[in-house]
Amino acid sequence: MLKVGIIGFGKMGRKHLESFKRIPGVSICGIFDASPGKIQEAGLKTCPDYKHLIKECDVICIATPTDTHKQYILEAIAVGRPVFVEKPLCRTVEEAEEVMQAVKKYKAKVMVGHVVRYFNQYAAIKKAIADGCVGKPAVARITRCSKFPKASNNWFNSREKSGGVILDLMIHDIDFLIWCFGDVERVYAKDIGREKIPNMDYALAVIRFKNGVIAHLEASWALSGGFRARVEVAGTEGLVNYDSRHPASLKVEHSDGNVIRENPVDENANQMEIREFVEYVLNDELPKTTLHDAYEALKVSLAALESVKSGAVVKLRRGKSE
Ligand SMILES: NC(=O)c1ccc[n+]([C@@H]2O[C@H](COP(=O)([O-])OP(=O)(O)OC[C@H]3O[C@@H](n4cnc5c(N)ncnc54)[C@H](O)[C@@H]3O)[C@@H](O)[C@H]2O)c1
Repeated sequence: MLKVGIIGFGKMGRKHLESFKRIPGVSICGIFDASPGKIQEAGLKTCPDYKHLIKECDVICIATPTDTHKQYILEAIAVGRPVFVEKPLCRTVEEAEEVMQAVKKYKAKVMVGHVVRYFNQYAAIKKAIADGCVGKPAVARITRCSKFPKASNNWFNSREKSGGVILDLMIHDIDFLIWCFGDVERVYAKDIGREKIPNMDYALAVIRFKNGVIAHLEASWALSGGFRARVEVAGTEGLVNYDSRHPASLKVEHSDGNVIRENPVDENANQMEIREFVEYVLNDELPKTTLHDAYEALKVSLAALESVKSGAVVKLRRGKSE
C-alpha cells in the first residue's frame, strides 16, 4: 500500500483525497490542516503534527495556501518523500529556486498540479495544433473566468499570499500555452489597478512566444456565477476553438456556485493527474507536467505581475536553476 499524507484540507485537499481514494493500492495515512475542525466535521481523523505525518507516510500531497508551499515541500523531500503540490509551485521565484536546488540535492520527485493539461479538450487542442490542423499557429485568445474563490481566512484576497488572479488563475492558461508553443519571450499585463476592489480581481496579458505566436489572456475573478473558460487558436490554415459553456459532459452546479463536470466517458482531470503522480512515484513514469514546466509557468506569471507593477513589457530571463 502507498500511504498518502495530505496537508491542507480545503477545496483542493478534499478533491485530492477523493482522487487518491479511488486508486487501488493507495491508502490515506493522515490529514493535517492548520484548522483541524474541518477534518473532524468531515468525519475523518486529524493528524495533529505534520512532521509526524511526513514521517509516517510514503508520499505527501500539499494543498495549502500558495505562500506555504515551499516550507512543506522542503520538509517532505528532505526525508525522501515524493510530493504532489498544488499550483503554483511557490509564491516567488526565489522560493522556487530554493525548491529546485533541494530537488536536485535530494534527487526528489515533485509534481505540481497543473491540471489543465489533463482536461481532454485542452489536450485535444494541443494535439490539433501539433498535427497542423490550423497550419502555422499565429494568435491565441484564452479566457478563464469565475467568481471570487471562497477560502479559509480569505487568503486569495491577499496578493502577498496568493499573487491574485494572475498567479492563481491565469497561470493555468500560461502553463497550457507554454505546453503548446514553448518558451516565452516577453509579457505585458494590466490588472484591476492599485486601488484593488476587495474580493474581485481581473487581468489581461499579452504574451509573445519565441516561436512568434502572440497570445492574449484574460483571467477574471469577477464573474457573478459559475465558471467559463475559452480557447481560440488561429493559424495560417484555420482556427480551433473551445468554450466550456458547451461541453460534452455531465454538470453538477451547486448552490454555492461550485460547478463540477464529469465527462461520462472520461476520467476527470483531477483524478488523471493524481493517477499520474502515483505512477511517477511507483514506476518512474514522468508526468505530463515536469517540475521545470511548473517553474516556467511560475516565472512567466510573476513576469506578468512585474509588468502590472512597472507598466512596462517584461522580457523573460533565465533563472538560476536553468
Ligand atoms: N488546480 C486547481 O484548479 C486549483 C483550484 C483552486 C486552488 N488551487 C491551489 O490549491 C492550493 C489550495 O487552495 P484551496 O482553494 O484548496 O484553498 P482553501 O483555503 O480552500 O484550503 C487551504 C487549506 O489549507 C489550510 N491551511 C492554511 N494555512 C495552512 C498551513 N500553514 N498549514 C496547514 N494548513 C493550512 C486551511 O485551513 C485550508 O483548509 C493553492 O495553492 C491554490 O492556488 C488549485
